[in-house]
Amino acid sequence: MNNYNIERINLLEEAPTMEPERQLYYVAKCQQHVHALKEQLGRDVSCYVETFGCQMNARDSEKLLGILREIGYKVVDSEDADMVLYNTCTVRENANLRVYGRLGQLHVLKKKNPHMIIGLCGCMMQESEVVEKIKKSYRFVNIIFGTFNIFKIAELLCTYFDTKKQVIDIWNDTKEVVEELPTARKYPFKSGVNIMYGCNNFCSYCIVPYVRGREKSRPPIEIVREIERLVDDGVKEVMLLGQNVNSYGKTFEEPFTFAMLLKEVEKIKGLERIRFMTPHPKDFSDDLLEVMEHSEKICNHIHFPLQSGSSKILKIMNRKYTKEQYLDWVQKIREKLPDVSLTTDIIVGFPGETEDDFKDTLDVIQKAKFDSAYTFIYSKRTGTPAASMEGQVPESIVKDRFNRLLETVGCVSHEVHARYTGQTVKVLVECINSQDSSLVTGRLTNNMLVHFPGDASLIGKIIKVKLTESKGFYYIGCME
Ligand code: SAH
Ligand code: SF4
Ligand code: F3S
Repeated sequence: MNNYNIERINLLEEAPTMEPERQLYYVAKCQQHVHALKEQLGRDVSCYVETFGCQMNARDSEKLLGILREIGYKVVDSEDADMVLYNTCTVRENANLRVYGRLGQLHVLKKKNPHMIIGLCGCMMQESEVVEKIKKSYRFVNIIFGTFNIFKIAELLCTYFDTKKQVIDIWNDTKEVVEELPTARKYPFKSGVNIMYGCNNFCSYCIVPYVRGREKSRPPIEIVREIERLVDDGVKEVMLLGQNVNSYGKTFEEPFTFAMLLKEVEKIKGLERIRFMTPHPKDFSDDLLEVMEHSEKICNHIHFPLQSGSSKILKIMNRKYTKEQYLDWVQKIREKLPDVSLTTDIIVGFPGETEDDFKDTLDVIQKAKFDSAYTFIYSKRTGTPAASMEGQVPESIVKDRFNRLLETVGCVSHEVHARYTGQTVKVLVECINSQDSSLVTGRLTNNMLVHFPGDASLIGKIIKVKLTESKGFYYIGCME
């Protein structure tokens, strides 16, 4: 789908210094290696990439898979592969623990397959103590790189093929992001599109700004061109991705807002649905609401991370809004977009959180009437300001609050979902239902799922479905 021609590359010449030409040169070099291995083994040479993190991490995995597929690897769905790459996340401690646990199992597989290459990349690798631990205790990992140089996978693989030594390449930041390389989408009909990288907000609990670097917005023209190409390739729905999409374009010489970007994306012919994630409440704008109100394509869903309902905790979290400001935005949103689905992220057990602070969180959930909420127990991240704050909340209290939080979120979302039962809505069919193959699963514009009788021919199509029953987190329906 991009403008490159690997056949024309002359491997007798030195590697080009410019990107993306340099990487295409290394792709061609890796192709030779993988081809030779295929001949030697008399079978396909396979690769497997697993995403441990958020949508941005998932989009990075698609870029990695695109390059690996171009190199000649057969993409498979299990770790019993010749190249296994874990694209890691470090937002909470348990994300890290999962990686270490899985690495142990992978070592067993590697002993059976001497050709297996193990790679680790992504956010966790941006932490120096993690890399030190892997160097010391996980010598069997072959390639380690971070978040800023995922585009270099082919070059790093070549280095490994040439040296057969553990390759480590971690950058601390980057000025430009290399795009224009092959990607392999998980779904033919929908795609994430990065509109910005990094984060400047430094919420006091969060490690993302340290592992993803400073905020950088992609020029609108590049984003629009990428989406046009995706649409030509069958994509109907895009998800515009950034840690704080509302601050899109703020670093440009000529200011260009997120609302302006949405208007440009709306014009793309053939594109049917636009989603975005994540808008930070502190930068939410009337312009954005206005654009959403008049748009035919922007989906009826806003993910609006609350984190805490207590103004005191929000201040220590460095979120830069109060409980009242958050609720004012919710009210404004509901006035302009009465059918919108609101979802959120909530952390319990942040240092200094009292019972009263927690009750404020429950209060906001009841007032905002979230369709659903991702709920997290606060996890201490080394290097963030909150890690050294006083008043860390004891585990037993946190667990109790977490259970109460789940209960409140569950009750509210049950009540909210019932309001759509009986309606006929447009649904983008995504897959065959994993539990019952006589059903397919589709997504409403408000991001909820509906399961209804259908077959594989519907996948990727937008069709009308009647929602016959609400099951709390999803619907049962039938085709109109
Ligand atoms: N940029 C997004 C969030 C990205 S991280 C935003 O500002 O909304 C996704 C979610 O992980 C956050 O919204 C937060 O709820 C949660 N999270 C981040 N750091 C955490 C930590 N240290 N402990 C628990 N949850 C955390
Ligand atoms: Fe983390 Fe805050 Fe940035 Fe979101 S806005 S990624 S929570 S620092
Ligand atoms: Fe995403 Fe996890 Fe990194 S949430 S940005 S993959 S730390």
